[in-house]
Amino acid sequence: MIAAYQAHCQRRVDSALEPLFEAPRPELTQLYQAMRYSVINGGKRVRPLLVYAACEALGGEPQRADGAACAVELIHAYSLVHDDLPAMDDDDLRRGQPTTHKAFDEASAILAGDGLQSLAFEVLADARRNPQNAEVRLAMISSLARAAGPAGMVGGQAIDLGSVGMKLNQAALESMHRHKTGALIEASVRLGALASARADERALKALHNYAQAIGLAFQVQDDILDVESDTATLGKTQGKDQANDKPTYPALLGLDAAKAYALELRDQALHALRPFDSAAEPLRELARYIVERRS
Ligand code: IPE
Ligand code: IPE
Ligand code: MG
Ligand code: MG
Ligand code: MG
Repeated sequence: MIAAYQAHCQRRVDSALEPLFEAPRPELTQLYQAMRYSVINGGKRVRPLLVYAACEALGGEPQRADGAACAVELIHAYSLVHDDLPAMDDDDLRRGQPTTHKAFDEASAILAGDGLQSLAFEVLADARRNPQNAEVRLAMISSLARAAGPAGMVGGQAIDLGSVGMKLNQAALESMHRHKTGALIEASVRLGALASARADERALKALHNYAQAIGLAFQVQDDILDVESDTATLGKTQGKDQANDKPTYPALLGLDAAKAYALELRDQALHALRPFDSAAEPLRELARYIVERRS
């Protein structure tokens, strides 16, 4: 069921994203090509899926969530382009293709990432692409900015790079993962809930608890896959965390304990969804998928 839902959301968000990459002037063709290359390349679209599924859990219409779904994927794609740069993780392969700085050059990759980040907020602010009242649009912009910025993903990336070669304790590792990956996943759920126009404080709180658990589980599973998957399945080079001497859950706890922790987080996420009816089934399926996925 999740595969069909995922395919549906992928098509939906890809068709909303595609028009963003038409270069407005011929001299910008290469920049727009690099941005498009970084986004329209077969990502799993987990964050847009969370936007749609959270909106649906509260009974909202998916067309209300298209802008938010685009925005979170644009931020995610930018974070990957910069994460792969030589100054960061120095990766050559992403989503089964050469990374943006390999397919183009480093300056183009930096600028493509910068452009994608700005586009995300342009989309959220645009009432045509993000049809909410002005107050909800502002709440979305503010939530995404905080999640993407120094108090969220960028902060997590700084902690990650500052921790190379160190042995973090579990609390420090958890904080790093919550920032670098959890924050954007939490924002995806929150934006989806806000897009439904039916979110009250209790629902937002329950969905936040769900998102916190799956946000951490997502990066724990990413660390596990880096150890035990293979490059062809992952679409990115397997074993890079160890090669780059990164602190990870398997390195700290061992593979079996890391897997058990991912399952515990899945159960916490499912527990948080108890107040919701069958409309939250895609969110439940996603929690299972996140710890079972092989790529
Ligand atoms: C990879 O994210 C980077 C992390 C935050 C762990 P995804 O596993 O969602 O990557 P894509 O979007 O499917 O390529
Ligand atoms: C990436 O974490 C998190 C962000 C891009 C914000 P990783 O460095 O583990 O992601 P992968 O494994 O390269 O996809
Ligand atoms: Mg990284
Ligand atoms: Mg990386
Ligand atoms: Mg990784």
